[in-house]
Amino acid sequence: DESVGRALDAFRAGDPVCVHDFADREGETDIVYPAGAVDEGAVAHMRNDAGGLICVAVGDPVADAFGLPFLADALDHPAVDDDPDYDDRSSFSLPVNHRETFTGITDEDRARTIVELAGAAAAVDADPGGYSPEDFATEFRAPGHVHVLRGDRDGLGGRTGHTELGLAMAGAVGAAPAAVVCEMLDDETGAALAPADAEAYATRRDIPYVEGAALVEAFK
Ligand code: 5RP
Ligand code: CA
Ligand code: ZN
Repeated sequence: DESVGRALDAFRAGDPVCVHDFADREGETDIVYPAGAVDEGAVAHMRNDAGGLICVAVGDPVADAFGLPFLADALDHPAVDDDPDYDDRSSFSLPVNHRETFTGITDEDRARTIVELAGAAAAVDADPGGYSPEDFATEFRAPGHVHVLRGDRDGLGGRTGHTELGLAMAGAVGAAPAAVVCEMLDDETGAALAPADAEAYATRRDIPYVEGAALVEAFK
């Protein structure tokens, strides 16, 4: 599928991709970046043009090395009920800030947290036994303003969310196992941006638009 080739070319260059998951899943299009390529402008792009939550998906081995659990497993509160209608579970782990941020929410602060998460993910990837939760804690603190998502341990074989779709693209281009995702919302209605509108936006901005089904097919 040529849309996959275009998406991977963009990812390889550190440029964003619009990824629609599946009409029978969330039915959402996320703007997705390789995390190591994110700068202040990319954070501004996501909050202005996407408008959803800015999250960093990391691979399962990376989350293990970081010592970051699924949030739903870590919390003991009666409100914990991780049973969304669109999938078996969410992928949320802890929200974090890099320690050298101030409030953590500015474009500068979020870009710093995201780039440092990518750097730490690359370090784990290079030497899985060489990075501990204590190392993570010297670099980051929780709660913070960037939501970490944990990829399924079986990748796209276990779950086909934007979490795993972003991580699969990062893996395919040899980037660190860290991908930033942010849902595109409709400024008029507040609903998820319709796929046709997301695709028109992508065309207008010269950003590759790719379907989850095409990525699953390409990586199976
Ligand atoms: C975090 C989310 C988004 O949907 C994001 O795309 C990651 O989740 P998933 O892997 O379930 O698609 O809920 O803002
Ligand atoms: Ca979601
Ligand atoms: Zn999603």
